[in-house]
Amino acid sequence: MKTLIFNGSPRKNGNTAALIQALSERLGGEIKVVRAYDCDVRPCIDCRYCWKNRGCSIKDGMQEIYKDIDEADNIVIASPVNFSELTGQLLAVLSRLQTYWCAKYLRKEEPVSKPKRAGVILVRGGSGPQKLNAIDTAKMILGDISATVCGVVVAENSDAVPSVQQEGVLEAIYALADALKQG
Ligand SMILES: Cc1cc2nc3c(=O)[nH]c(=O)nc-3n(C[C@H](O)[C@H](O)[C@H](O)COP(=O)(O)O)c2cc1C
Repeated sequence: MKTLIFNGSPRKNGNTAALIQALSERLGGEIKVVRAYDCDVRPCIDCRYCWKNRGCSIKDGMQEIYKDIDEADNIVIASPVNFSELTGQLLAVLSRLQTYWCAKYLRKEEPVSKPKRAGVILVRGGSGPQKLNAIDTAKMILGDISATVCGVVVAENSDAVPSVQQEGVLEAIYALADALKQG
């Protein structure tokens, strides 16, 4: 079982990283983490190459990630909430997944060669009724890869108490890992 995880946090030892660690330990298999703030991936420049062609005209680290996506059984988007959204750098990396939207709706091709399960992990300093656009954004992007989202974990109050110590958070992460394993 291969799992590709996008980490949208700039903090190497932050809450997102800790929850990814917990998920990975429970999940097992082959796991690769793409750190949005460290990877060699430039943002989409809307050159429209992918309107007619597979892949992307920009030759950078994303080429390997496309291969990883294709081979993955599971895709996980994990990010801090910034201004209700996924972090800017993660959105820059994920903008390169527009080629899958083009596959489906413009090129009329299967975006990937095998079905995938997916998960979303968000950590946020706050709590309460703020609408988390990040959930819809992550689901939309995962939908472009035709991945089935089998769990969304939102860990609140991460600036007050580390997410792994929050009541119920680890249980939710383990439930997500178990759902991904059922694929
Ligand atoms: C620029 C910025 C914007 C943020 N916006 C929100 C927000 O809209 N809602 C929220 O609950 N927390 C917000 N936060 C707090 C982060 O989500 C929180 O610190 C989170 O734990 C960081 O994740 P990490 O520990 O994995 O790095 C924001 C933080 C920053 C730096």
